[in-house]
Amino acid sequence: MKLQFPIMALILMSISDGREAFAGEESCRACHAMDTTLVGPPFRAVAARYKDDQLAIEKLKKSMLEGSSGKWGGMAMPPNQGLTQEEAERFAHWVMSLNTVSAH
Ligand code: HEC
Repeated sequence: MKLQFPIMALILMSISDGREAFAGEESCRACHAMDTTLVGPPFRAVAARYKDDQLAIEKLKKSMLEGSSGKWGGMAMPPNQGLTQEEAERFAHWVMSLNTVSAH
């Protein structure tokens, strides 16, 4: 049927909206993966490390906006150019949400 493809595309777009499809994600992916260490630590490892930290969101936001070094290994993360406060907040919540996704 001709109509099926556009409808599927719409459904898929709305499903992926919350978790995967945030703006600028590609630039993070150059250095980060979900489960393996690239230049930076895997997002799941970050989520696990800050699991019980009340200030996790603030700390992760600060690292993304101002850069970070010495917490994970020899490599440093430069301040992410063009990243807004709102986006950093969204990324921080997204990273921490990985704990509930993989809680088993
Ligand atoms: C040039 C490579 C690079 C890019 C681009 C990059 N990161 Fe990083 N990131 C790193 C490295 C290296 C570390 C570890 C820094 C350290 O040891 O303190 C890190 C650490 C982190 C941490 C943990 C910070 C902490 O305080 O423990 C988070 C969260 C993070 N990155 C998220 C992001 C997000 C989101 C983006 C995209 C907006 C991004 N990174 C882009 C290399 C990068």
